[in-house]
Amino acid sequence: MGCCDLHFRRGSRGGRRSEAAVESERVPPGIDPTKAHPSRRYNYWLGGKDNFAVDRESAEMVASAFPTVGLAARENRAFLKRVVGYLAGEAGIGQFLDIGTGLPSAGNVHEVAQAIEPTSRIVYVDNDQVVLVHARALLTSAPEGRTAYIEADLRDPDRILADPDLRRTLDMTRPVALMLVATMHFIVDEDDPYGIFARLVSALPSGSHVVMTHATSDHLTPEQYAVSEEANKRSGVPFRLRGSDEFARFFGGLELLPPGITSVVEWRPDVPEADRPSIEDVSMLCAVARVP
Ligand SMILES: C[S@@+](CC[C@H](N)C(=O)[O-])C[C@H]1O[C@@H](n2cnc3c(N)ncnc32)[C@H](O)[C@@H]1O
Repeated sequence: MGCCDLHFRRGSRGGRRSEAAVESERVPPGIDPTKAHPSRRYNYWLGGKDNFAVDRESAEMVASAFPTVGLAARENRAFLKRVVGYLAGEAGIGQFLDIGTGLPSAGNVHEVAQAIEPTSRIVYVDNDQVVLVHARALLTSAPEGRTAYIEADLRDPDRILADPDLRRTLDMTRPVALMLVATMHFIVDEDDPYGIFARLVSALPSGSHVVMTHATSDHLTPEQYAVSEEANKRSGVPFRLRGSDEFARFFGGLELLPPGITSVVEWRPDVPEADRPSIEDVSMLCAVARVP
């Protein structure tokens, strides 16, 4: 990431993490390098270098059960760019609330949206301190638009909605696109994912859009599911695969837009079918819905 000043040394893949390995990485204050975090693990799968040994080990643990996870991450990111292009263009949405932003990467939401409509306004939210360190790269708004970054946890939607930076940046009386892209699967059942989602949607005016992608168990046999569950447990990052019926439950009361609930691979694809990966290898559901 040329935009950022934080680079962690890349260690050997899958190797046992030693104290020396941790010490040799430059760790910004306030960041725990002994605990894997989804944003840095995703950065590793996308080929980035802003991750710790513990993140790489966690990533390899997941890959041991789901070897195409890197492909899934890339396809998810490609979907993110396509959907923001659709929202900012065809759907005419000028405001975005992107929860679970991830580390800045090519094609951040504001870059895609403001290339189409420079007045677009974007609020980014993430709970990883490392994303905060990079937030400067998320705040390079076009002069006509505006961006803000909030460090907050999705599990506290009221805190997000009441944040003064959100209120300064977004006009909540006008349509907003709520983006939960590859984020909701980190919310386990005990944390009430459907309640969190409903609370966020309740703050959106009519005409707003909701986008979600979510890792799915749809293509797994019971044996594969058990292996995957075990790998996720051992990876140190709470994670909940959901089937398409569980995914569909989020969208009750909303108007699903065509093509409805589908794989990220098949949502308004921009490459010929022959060049697309299989939906099983990606195993990531998506949907775009309108708030009535
Ligand atoms: C897999 S990344 C997805 C990044 C980006 N949305 C994309 O699709 O390219 C998931 C992001 O969600 C964030 N995240 C996970 N749990 C969260 C929570 N409870 N609150 C806020 N952010 C969270 C992680 O820190 C990470 O940056």
